[in-house]
Amino acid sequence: MKEVKIEAVLVVYDSLEKLPEDIQKLMQLAVEARNTAYSPYSKFNVGASILLDNGEVVSGSNQENASYPSGLCAERTAIFYAGAKYPKAKMLKMALTASSQNQVTNKPIPPCGACRQSIAEYEIKQKQPIEIYFMGAKGKVVKSKSLANLLPLVFESSVL
Ligand code: THU
Repeated sequence: MKEVKIEAVLVVYDSLEKLPEDIQKLMQLAVEARNTAYSPYSKFNVGASILLDNGEVVSGSNQENASYPSGLCAERTAIFYAGAKYPKAKMLKMALTASSQNQVTNKPIPPCGACRQSIAEYEIKQKQPIEIYFMGAKGKVVKSKSLANLLPLVFESSVL
């Protein structure tokens, strides 16, 4: 028997202004995407923007549905669109922001488990890490150097 310890290393910035300009711009696009959320049920708005190695940025927001499970998170809306529109491009960086229509969301909101699994698929496919930056509506921003860092013990295709 042995115990295995798994660690995730995150970098926490006090505010968006402390980040490099390209990340600030990417996050600003995620804020714009967040404002396009269709979230009449949860009143929770999420925006995701992905910078590709061809210079393009693909953004998405959460899209809800009266049949709740039929809706889709912002991260997957964005990453599936990026994968469909630019299948050969690599995804370099992803900025995420979330805000509630009911309260001030001032703590960083990480991607949900299903979104982590979906982002992991593209990171593994492209054999290159995707940097993830996430925040609430304002306040601290968290950086993860890769998706793998956020999803230890990932389920991946090599086992199939
Ligand atoms: N949501 C996202 O868009 N991304 C996440 O990572 C977590 C949750 C959305 C789904 C739903 O529309 C709302 O936030 C509340 O769960």
